[in-house]
Amino acid sequence: VSGPLVLGIETSCDETGIGIVRGRELLSNTIASSMDEQARYGGVVPEIAARAHLEALQPSIEAALAEASVSLAELDAVAVTSGPGLAGALMVGVGAAKALAVSLGKPLYAVNHLVGHIAADILTEDADRLEYPTVAILVSGGHTSLLLVRDLTSDVELLGETVDDAAGEAFDKVARVLGLPYPGGPEIDRAAAQGDPLAIRFPRGLSRASDMAEHRYDFSFSGLKTAVARWVEQREDAGEPVPVADVAASFREAVVDVLVTKALDACARHGVPRLLLGGGVIANRRLRDVALERAEAAGVTVRIPPLSLCTDNGAMIAALAAELISAGRQPSTLAFGADSTLPV
Ligand code: KG4
Ligand code: ZN
Repeated sequence: VSGPLVLGIETSCDETGIGIVRGRELLSNTIASSMDEQARYGGVVPEIAARAHLEALQPSIEAALAEASVSLAELDAVAVTSGPGLAGALMVGVGAAKALAVSLGKPLYAVNHLVGHIAADILTEDADRLEYPTVAILVSGGHTSLLLVRDLTSDVELLGETVDDAAGEAFDKVARVLGLPYPGGPEIDRAAAQGDPLAIRFPRGLSRASDMAEHRYDFSFSGLKTAVARWVEQREDAGEPVPVADVAASFREAVVDVLVTKALDACARHGVPRLLLGGGVIANRRLRDVALERAEAAGVTVRIPPLSLCTDNGAMIAALAAELISAGRQPSTLAFGADSTLPV
């Protein structure tokens, strides 16, 4: 395996990710998270995330270089997430990447975080089987996006995204309603295993938007979250016990149903028999199972990178830059800045 040696920096949310790749080969992928600190507040506090990135960056870069057994001087390029994400958090990574690239005299590639998630797939062992076009659904605490990827380096189209909460955020908020700790996704997943997914019929947000071409692939989870909160409240007001496992299972089913339905609808409408899953919520067993089961019935092949590449990380950022370099793309000029709403 050969290709450009790239160090990638990811600081768009609460993970400080440093990854090093040589072309499509993964050399290191270190992740420092301020999750423990954020947990005290029940969610990501932007200022805490930015400060944690500042503290974690240098030791993380050193650790990644050591793990990959490469020196800064050997790098062919530096890559960084310039957006979308939390403005202050992004700024720390962008500043560090510029300083590193300028001081080393290396080219710098500013890349899009969402496209980076898609690039994670090329670092998987069977990357040779990667084919385009593919539909990709990215589900995390910060985003819920459905994309059509015709070419990773030049043609990625956003089909739709959440109009309010991200799916992971909905898991975190519903967990709080149920008295479960942050981050709520894994807690709900665990509680749901003992529950009945058909116990309560919670709303599937924007599922009827499928009639409107414009918003067919948008998602909404705040109505679902409110519906769960109201259901639980009514139980409590009536002095009845809350069946936590059933609520968790029914809520999880509603989220999974809408994610998988829209993703497979996009595959069908665009005639694309491939679906890539990404983002931290992919850790959800039920989501993986339902996606695999329904995709098989629809003749769609599903790709799920290992979780360490699905959650926010620097390796996917480095991998995307390596692809851009291999495709002959010029590096970014230093004029770019952090852009919290950067489009794909
Ligand atoms: O990609 P990720 O690690 O980073 C951020 O978006 O910051 O995703 C974290 C999100 C959190 O909202 C967490 O509750 C959710 O992913 N999550 C899950 C599961 N594991 C993590 N959601 C549902 N089921 C899970 N098993
Ligand atoms: Zn992400």
